[in-house]
Amino acid sequence: MQSDERLIVALDFPTADLAKNCVEELGDSVCHYKVGMELYYAAGSEIIRFLKEHNKKVFLDLKLHDIPNTVASALAVLTELGADMMNVHAIGGRKMMQEAVKAVHAKAAELGRPAPKLIAVTILTSINEEQYADLNYKTGIAEQVIALAKLAKEAGMDGVVASPQEAAAIREACGEGFLIVTPGIRPAGSDVNDQSRIATPSGALKNGSTHIVVGRPITKAEDKKAAAQSIAAEIRGV
Ligand code: C5P
Repeated sequence: MQSDERLIVALDFPTADLAKNCVEELGDSVCHYKVGMELYYAAGSEIIRFLKEHNKKVFLDLKLHDIPNTVASALAVLTELGADMMNVHAIGGRKMMQEAVKAVHAKAAELGRPAPKLIAVTILTSINEEQYADLNYKTGIAEQVIALAKLAKEAGMDGVVASPQEAAAIREACGEGFLIVTPGIRPAGSDVNDQSRIATPSGALKNGSTHIVVGRPITKAEDKKAAAQSIAAEIRGV
């Protein structure tokens, strides 16, 4: 069965070898991977090169947040490595996001490659109402998520990372073509683990997500390939 680039498998592993074994086991069933802080800090650019050599798309989930010049320079380096999608925290502000977009586009043009997609994290989905109150924002979470998604769009970002529950409102506020990448995906009947605001793969896409990020339901499955193929089949049916 063909792979589907809307399915992004989270390679949450502490070593390059474990991640590579997983990619090899999944073979052609998956073409898009997420490399987060754990794996990137352990394996560095080696894992990105490995994935690109295997013709995989790479979402580098490092959630950058610093002064505009630092974030822009870091993203230019990561563009050179070949990541296809990267992210920053929207609360870094308009200027940080604008500079990020400019740097990534300039580096990609210099290399003669398509620019990687840049997406923004709004409010982390792990933040509950109680923790959110500590942050002393003026509006509630839902309103703040939409305000930050709109700011990201105005700054030239390609989309956001969001929970599947936020996807429909973001789609309405930011229009078609805006990427909405959603973790917290659990196929019907699978283990919820520590996720709370979850949706099924097809439910997330129906809510407006353009990509789903799936980790443990695939990487911890006895038959990883079968798990990935079953999710790919489900989303193809939407
Ligand atoms: O194993 P599981 O499917 O829960 O993995 C989800 C992936 O998405 C993990 O890499 C997790 O860090 C990431 N993620 C998330 N929630 C967010 C942002 C990222 O679960 N809000």
